[in-house]
Amino acid sequence: MNNFTFQIQYMSTVFTEFSLHPYNTFSVAAKAKYFIEFSTQDELMDLLQDAYWNDTKKMILGGGSNILLTKDFDGLVLKNSLLGIEVLSETSNYYYVKANAGESWHDFVCYCIEQNMGGVENLSLIPGSVGASPMQNIGAYGVELCDVFHSLEALEINTLKKREFSAEECYFGYRESIFKKALKDQYIILSVTYRLTKNHLINASYGALSEILKQKNIEHPSIKDISDIVIEIRQSKLPDPKQLGNAGSFFKNPEINKSEFDSFHREHGNAPFYNLENGKYKIPAGWLIEQCGWKGKVIGNTGAHKDQALVLVNYGGAQGEEIWKLALNIQTSVKEKFKIEIQTEVNIY
Ligand code: EPU
Repeated sequence: MNNFTFQIQYMSTVFTEFSLHPYNTFSVAAKAKYFIEFSTQDELMDLLQDAYWNDTKKMILGGGSNILLTKDFDGLVLKNSLLGIEVLSETSNYYYVKANAGESWHDFVCYCIEQNMGGVENLSLIPGSVGASPMQNIGAYGVELCDVFHSLEALEINTLKKREFSAEECYFGYRESIFKKALKDQYIILSVTYRLTKNHLINASYGALSEILKQKNIEHPSIKDISDIVIEIRQSKLPDPKQLGNAGSFFKNPEINKSEFDSFHREHGNAPFYNLENGKYKIPAGWLIEQCGWKGKVIGNTGAHKDQALVLVNYGGAQGEEIWKLALNIQTSVKEKFKIEIQTEVNIY
C-alpha cells in the first residue's frame, strides 16, 4: 500500500504516495506525495536541514481531526508524534505542566484529572492532539484553551530556530490563533505548557452541564464529575469519528453586529443567540443549518448529522471533494435564507 522508498541520511523513514485515510478523522481517502512521522526533535531537525525539502510544500499533521482533504497533497506531510508529559514547576495555587505536541489531547485531559490538576475537564473528549489545542484555541462547554494556556515552544520551519510564545503572542480568538493566520504553516508546535489549578474553579455555567448536575443531584462537582458529564453530553450529541467520519463542528458560529442582529431577531425571534462582550451577537450555526433543512439529510455518502447539524459526516467512502461541495451548498443556503455568512472552522486542503 505505502511505498517505502528512501531511508538514506534520516533517522525517520520517508514514505511516498502515502494513504492519509487513517490519519484524518473524516476518513477521506487522499494521498500524500511524501510522508514522514517524527517522534523526536532531533529527527525533525535532521530532515528539515536537508535542502531536498526546501521547496516542497509542507503540512504538519497532528490528530487529523480538524482537516478536510479535498485532494491528494502534493508535498510533504510531517506527522507530529512527539510524546511526553512533564510537570515543570508548581506554586501554592498552580501546576505548570508541559505536554509534547504529539500527545493525544484527551489522554492529556485524563492525565490531569488523575493527577487532580484542574482547568481542562470541560475540554474532555475533544479529538486531536496537544499541538492542535492552541492552534485553533479549542473550546467547549464554557472553557477555551486560552483559559489554561501558559506558553508554547515552536520551531520556525525556514530558520530552524526555536521560539517560545506567550499567550499574548498567540493572539487567541474564537477558534483562532496567530498560527491559523499571520504565521500559518511557518511554525511547528513542539510542546505546550498549561497552567493547571490546585484549588479548582469549577465551570458549570453551560446549560446542558448544569442541567445534568441538577438531575444527578451533584451540588459540589469535582473535576472528574465535570469531565464525566462532558463526555456523556458529547457522546449523546456528537458522532464518534471512529464510527462515523467527521471533524467536529465544520463551521464557526457566526458573529454579527447589532444592526444585523436587530433585523435578524425581528424575523427570527425564536433563534438562540449569545451576547458577546464586544457588543456583537453570536448565532449558533447548527441552528441556522437546521432551519435550512439540512439536519439529518443524507446526500450521497455525506450529510449533516441528525443530532447536530453543524457536524458534517462521511457515511463511508465519501471523497473530500464531495464533503466540500456539501459544505459550500450549506454555506450558500444559509446566506440566502439569513443573509449571514458562515465560515469554516475546519482547515481545508
Ligand atoms: N442547535 C440547533 N440545531 C443543531 C445544533 C445546534 O438548533 O443541529 C442549537 C442548540 O439547540 C443550541 C445551540 O444551537 O441552542 C448551540 O448548540 P450546542 O450547544 O450543541 O453548541 P454549538 O454552538 O453548536 C459549540 C462548539 C462545539 C462545542 C459546543 C459545546 C463551535 C463551532 N462549536 O457548538 O465545538 O463542543 O459548542 O460547547 O463553536 C468543535 O469545535 O468541533 C466543537 C464540537
